[in-house]
Amino acid sequence: MRQIVFVTNNQHKLIEIRHLAKDKFQIQSLQDVDFNYDIPETSPTLEGNALEKARFFYKKTGKNCFADDTGLEVHALGGLPGVNSARFASDHDYNKNMMHLLELMKDIEDRRARFRTVIALILDGKEFLFEGIVNGHITYEPRGQNGFGYDPIFVPQGDNRTFAQMTLDEKNLYSHRQKAFSKLIDFLQNVSS
Ligand code: IMP
Repeated sequence: MRQIVFVTNNQHKLIEIRHLAKDKFQIQSLQDVDFNYDIPETSPTLEGNALEKARFFYKKTGKNCFADDTGLEVHALGGLPGVNSARFASDHDYNKNMMHLLELMKDIEDRRARFRTVIALILDGKEFLFEGIVNGHITYEPRGQNGFGYDPIFVPQGDNRTFAQMTLDEKNLYSHRQKAFSKLIDFLQNVSS
């Protein structure tokens, strides 16, 4: 079976993509290939970060790989927090970041927002980008206990629950990451058939 490395340390994402890849591809983690470097993430864009991570790994190992980056883009804030979603108020403190966003938006009526995931794939030295988007809006208060990050304040178009009020399967029907992962798997299936 064809193997490819997912340049991430996030176990949750590995489980998600392995579920989609099933028996079509073997998705290896950084642990599986014993890769222990700190991976740089210094670009001002999602595309730049995904490429930076994939290129860093590919240069060191020569192995086919992909990396992802995701941001929440709020229309009235010109796309913020965007590439800074993980550290908007505080590094990786989901609650502080979420409350900071709600505070910034307390007088803003236009609540439109989207999650956007970008995946950079490097296959035999060639680079490809894939994108997954879910449009929706930001609530005035957090609702629900499931998920992570900004899930309690994001309602996808076509529903009235926040992501945090859904099961993972329900969220995945809308999810930005699932859309990007599906495009990647379809592409890999086509090039290897
Ligand atoms: P990453 O690039 O996937 O690590 O995502 C960066 C940040 O975006 C995370 O730290 C979260 O704050 C936020 N984020 C990414 N995906 C989701 C999601 O599915 N729900 C809620 N927040 C998310």
